[in-house]
Amino acid sequence: MAEKNKPHYEELKAQVNFHNYRYHTLDEPLISDLEYDRLLNELKQIEADHPDWITPDSPTQRTGSKPADRFEKLRHPRSILSLANAFGADDARAWLERIKKLDDRVEKAKFVVEPKIDGLSVVLHYRDGLFTQGATRGDGEIGEDITSNLRTVRAIPLRIPVESQKSKVESRGPSTFDLRPPRYLVVRGEAFIPNKDFDELNRKLEEAGEKTYLNPRNTAAGSLRQLDPQLTASRPLTLLVYQIVYSEGGEVPTSQWEILEYLKALGFPVTDVAKRFNDLESAIAYTETWNEGRDKLPYEADGMVIKIDDLTLAADLGFVGKDPRGAIAFKFPAREVTTTLNDIGVAVGRTGVLTPYAMLEPVEIGGVIVERATLHNFDFIAEKDIRVGDRVLVKRAGEVIPYVIGPVVDARSGKEKTYKPPTKCPACGEAVEHFEGEVAWYCVNAACPAQLVRNIEHFVSRSAMDIVGLGIKIVEQLIETGLVKDAADLFTLKKEQLLELEGFAGKKAENLLGSLNQAKVQSLNRLIAALGIHGVGEVMAGDLSRAFGNLSALSKASAEELQQIEGVGPNIAESIVDWFAQPANQKVIRKLKAAGVDPVVQLSEISGQSSVLGGLTFVVTGTLPTLTREGVKELIESNGGKVTDSVSKKTSYLVLGENPGSKADKARALGVKILDEAALRKLIG
Ligand code: IVH
Repeated sequence: MAEKNKPHYEELKAQVNFHNYRYHTLDEPLISDLEYDRLLNELKQIEADHPDWITPDSPTQRTGSKPADRFEKLRHPRSILSLANAFGADDARAWLERIKKLDDRVEKAKFVVEPKIDGLSVVLHYRDGLFTQGATRGDGEIGEDITSNLRTVRAIPLRIPVESQKSKVESRGPSTFDLRPPRYLVVRGEAFIPNKDFDELNRKLEEAGEKTYLNPRNTAAGSLRQLDPQLTASRPLTLLVYQIVYSEGGEVPTSQWEILEYLKALGFPVTDVAKRFNDLESAIAYTETWNEGRDKLPYEADGMVIKIDDLTLAADLGFVGKDPRGAIAFKFPAREVTTTLNDIGVAVGRTGVLTPYAMLEPVEIGGVIVERATLHNFDFIAEKDIRVGDRVLVKRAGEVIPYVIGPVVDARSGKEKTYKPPTKCPACGEAVEHFEGEVAWYCVNAACPAQLVRNIEHFVSRSAMDIVGLGIKIVEQLIETGLVKDAADLFTLKKEQLLELEGFAGKKAENLLGSLNQAKVQSLNRLIAALGIHGVGEVMAGDLSRAFGNLSALSKASAEELQQIEGVGPNIAESIVDWFAQPANQKVIRKLKAAGVDPVVQLSEISGQSSVLGGLTFVVTGTLPTLTREGVKELIESNGGKVTDSVSKKTSYLVLGENPGSKADKARALGVKILDEAALRKLIG
C-alpha cells in the first residue's frame, strides 16, 4: 500500500479508538460489533503491510504482548495516598471539626461525594497525549509497572487530547474547559470488574468445569498483577478515574468537581454517581442513600469518599501518615469477612435433605455476629476444596443467610483437614441416599427425629396450621420426651403431660392446649399445606382442597385425576400419591381424624354444597344463552370446579357460547371436550 494511504490509516485508527470509547467508556455504542470488527480488521491489514506505521495508541496494541518474567518497578511522581476511614456520620462530623480548627476556609468548604470502588488502585501516565505507562499503587511511592496489562483494558484511553492539537476541551457537562491539557499527565483510578461481568465469568468457568473466582475485587487485582497480558485481556476489567496525581506543562482544574468533569472531557471513564454539596450534612445524607442502595451500583463499593472540593485547601490541610486530611472514606458496613472454619455441621431438613453448614469462629459482619453460614451442599465443599481449619471468606448481604464464598488458600498452614460427607444421617444414624441427577443427599428414614422436628415445625407454622405458642424449642422438647411422634399426637396432648416439661407453668400449658383446640377447625387447605407433601405449597393446597373437598377424597385420588388440576404435573401428582401411600402417613391421617381434625371445604370457600365438578378445570369462551361470565364462574366453582383463563392439555372442558374466540380452536386442536350451557347444567345435574 502506498504512502499516500497513511492519512486513511490515521483516520481509521482514530475511528476505532472513538468507537472503543463509545462502547467501553460511555456505554453508548454507535455501531454494531460487526462493523467495529470490520474497521479493526482493515486496520490490522494495513498494519501488516506497514509495520513501521504502528504507534502505541493503535487499538491493535491493546492485546497480545508476551508474558513478562517479572514486573519492573515504577516510581510515582507524587505519593499515592490512602484515606482515613469514617464508620458512620459521627466520625465524619468529627473529621470536619478537626480540620475546621486547622483552617478557617473549611467553614465554607464544599464537598464532593464519590463511590469508593472496591478494586485495584492504578496510576496511568500520559506523555504528549499517549498512554505510556501504568502502575499499581505498591507502597505509595513505588508501584509495579503493569503497562502491558493495563493496555488491554479498553476503558483506558490510549490517547488523550494535548496542547499541540490546540484542543479546547469541552465537557459534556455544563462547564467548558479552556485549559492547556498538560504534556505530561498522571491520573489515578480504580480498576475493577463489574458485578454482572463477574457473575458471567464465573458462570462460564463453572460450565467449563473450571474453578470459579471468589469475588470481583480479588479477581480484578489478580488479573492485573500477573505476568501474562493475554490473560488480563480475557478478563472483563474496566476502570473509573478520579484524581490527577501530577501534571507538567499545562493547567488542570483546582477543584475536585471540575477535575471529574475535566477527566471526563479528556475521554476518561468517570463515575456518574458523584455529587457536590455545600455542607457536610447533605454529603452525609447522600452517602447514606448509597449505603442502602449499594446493590444498585454495578460494582462492589465499600463506601463513599467525601472530599473537600477545593483542592488547594485540601492540599494545604496536609496529611497524617499516608492519609490526606482533605478527604475521608465513609465506609459501608462490611459484607464480606474472613474467619476460621472450625468445623462443618450437617442439618437434616424436613424432606430429609442433608445440608452442610459452616461452624465459624464468631465474626461480626455488618453489625451482626455470625457463627454459622451455609455451605450450600456437599458438591460445593468439594468443588471449592473447603477444608476444616481453613480461613474462609464469608458474605452476609441484605436478607440472605450468610454463606461461605470459599477458602483463602494462601492462608493455609497445612493443618487443614479435607472434609468427607457423612455416610449416615447425623440425627438417626441410618444410611444416607443419593438420587440420580440430584445434588442433595437424603436421609430416607421417615422416623428420623431431625426430620420429625422440621415436619412438626412446618405443620404448626403460620402458613400451615398456625398454632400459636408452639415454637421450635417446645417442638424439640415434645419430640425428645417422646410425647409427639407425629403431627397427630399434638392433638391428644394432656395438660398433665405438658406440665411435666421444663418451663411449662399452668397458664402456658392451658394456652397451648387452647390453640391446639382451635387449630382442629382450621380449613382443609391449611391442613393439606401442613402435611408437607413435596411440591404442595399454599396455593396448590387451596386448589386441592377445592377439588377434593376432604382429606379422604384426596388420599384416594389417582395420579391421572390429580393431573386434571391446573398446575399439577406428573411429578407433583406422583409425589401426592406416594405420600398418601406410605403407611406411616396413612396412620397420621387416621389419627388426625380420630382426634377430630378432619375439615371439609368450608361453604364460604366454594359457596355451594356440591363437589360434582371436583378436580375438573373449565375454560369459558363466547356468550352463553342465560349465564353471564361471572354467573357461569360461580356455578362451576360452587360445584367444586375450577375456572381458568387459557386452554391447555389439563383443561377438562371448554364451555362454548356464541362468537367464541381462539380458545375454541385451541380446545379442538388439543382434543379438549366442549360443552354448551345446557350440557354444563346437565353435568352438574
Ligand atoms: S481518593 C487522595 N477516591 O480507596 C486521594 N479513593 O482507602 C486518596 N478508592 O487506595 C484516594 N474509589 O484505591 C479515592 N473515588 C475514590 C476512590 C478511592 C476507590 C480507593 C483507592 C484508595 C482507597 C483508599
